[in-house]
Amino acid sequence: MAHFALVPRVVITDTWAPCLAELKFTPEDVVFTVQPLRKRWIEALEIPSRVICYEDFGHGEPTDEVIDRIWAAIRAGPCRRIIAIGGGSVLDVAKIVALRRTGSALQVFRKEVEIAKEIPLTLIPTTCGTGSEVTNIAIAAIPSLGTKLGLAVDALYADQAVLCPELALGLPEQVLVTSAIDALVHAMESYLSPRSHAYPELFSLRAMEILLTRFREFVAQGRMATVPHLIRDLMIASNYAGIAFGNTGVGAVHALSYPLSGTYHVPHGEANARFLLAVFRTYQGLDPQGKIRDIEALITRIWGTDSSGQPWNDLEVLIDRLLPRKPLRDYGMPTSQISEFAATVQATQQRLLANNYRPLTTQHIAAIYTSIH
Ligand SMILES: NC(=O)c1ccc[n+]([C@@H]2O[C@H](COP(=O)([O-])OP(=O)(O)OC[C@H]3O[C@@H](n4cnc5c(N)ncnc54)[C@H](O)[C@@H]3O)[C@@H](O)[C@H]2O)c1
Ligand SMILES: [Fe+2]
Repeated sequence: MAHFALVPRVVITDTWAPCLAELKFTPEDVVFTVQPLRKRWIEALEIPSRVICYEDFGHGEPTDEVIDRIWAAIRAGPCRRIIAIGGGSVLDVAKIVALRRTGSALQVFRKEVEIAKEIPLTLIPTTCGTGSEVTNIAIAAIPSLGTKLGLAVDALYADQAVLCPELALGLPEQVLVTSAIDALVHAMESYLSPRSHAYPELFSLRAMEILLTRFREFVAQGRMATVPHLIRDLMIASNYAGIAFGNTGVGAVHALSYPLSGTYHVPHGEANARFLLAVFRTYQGLDPQGKIRDIEALITRIWGTDSSGQPWNDLEVLIDRLLPRKPLRDYGMPTSQISEFAATVQATQQRLLANNYRPLTTQHIAAIYTSIH
């Protein structure tokens, strides 16, 4: 039996002004965001709600400790509704903070306490990647475990998602690229997940098509040639990918990237970019005749006359152009840590490994780390 959920309702608008009218901010609401967005889109408008910024509590992607501090601050005053405006870091924290506070963030991520939604939540993504606005997933680095953990429970669904590409126009190019590669990984891992079926495939295939086409334009023409429609298309594709993987899960690319991200503070999309080709080439070696051929055919079709006939090589060249290659040792990871990371993945990421196209053993995982070390 197959399941497909499309939660929450999605509001789509090109510009911020209609969002303001739609959202009707009140003094009992809390806006949770980041400084660049506060300055550009909130401060000047004299929104009556409390505004809380992520940077006042932590930097980089969220840890359980940072979430605890934000949880306390947001709940210290009136909080009839939370409106989170930001990238995946902000959206994920908001999803946890909207829960009833039954324990610490670590206890929530380890499912040691009751998990129940308490505060209505609106999520407004401003990067082009995580799809977090439509998933029932939140992710945090857990320093005490040396990795990241994801929590997937329906209490994390927002009540409403708003896609407003204008908010992403000031996105630093590095964040634009890494978050959009994350969206590509979501779509590719979702498509090959054993839990996928005709409905998520509709979204994952279209997301891959948009992302790969826009990436090729971006590399060929440079960002300035494409900004307004580039951002809009990437944001929509990221949302499609979120709908897809929210239903199927993601797999080994994410699972293997978590110890690297958690230990060496590598941004999520950048870490995924490092593992993408190595994982998919391993899959290709294990079962070249299965569904992976559909992705190869899609790449070949999009590359058209530029295709080399080697889709994985073509994709690798594209990813290298978007984000120059960097071996894992350059992040500080020693060779001696490969077996430790492979063991951590097996011990902590079974939720994700269950979504792999073909099962990967600890030896496969260690070989993937070695190949890009
Ligand atoms: N819940 C999910 O389903 C899911 C899926 C994938 C990733 N994630 C999580 O999302 C996080 C990564 O999110 P991300 O890639 O969106 O990056 P991010 O939220 O960490 O943001 C990266 C940087 O960009 C800045 N920024 C964001 N939007 C901006 C804008 N419009 N203008 C200027 N600056 C802006 C932020 O302040 C930050 O400095 C990770 O923690 C990852 O684990 C969650
Ligand atoms: Fe991701």
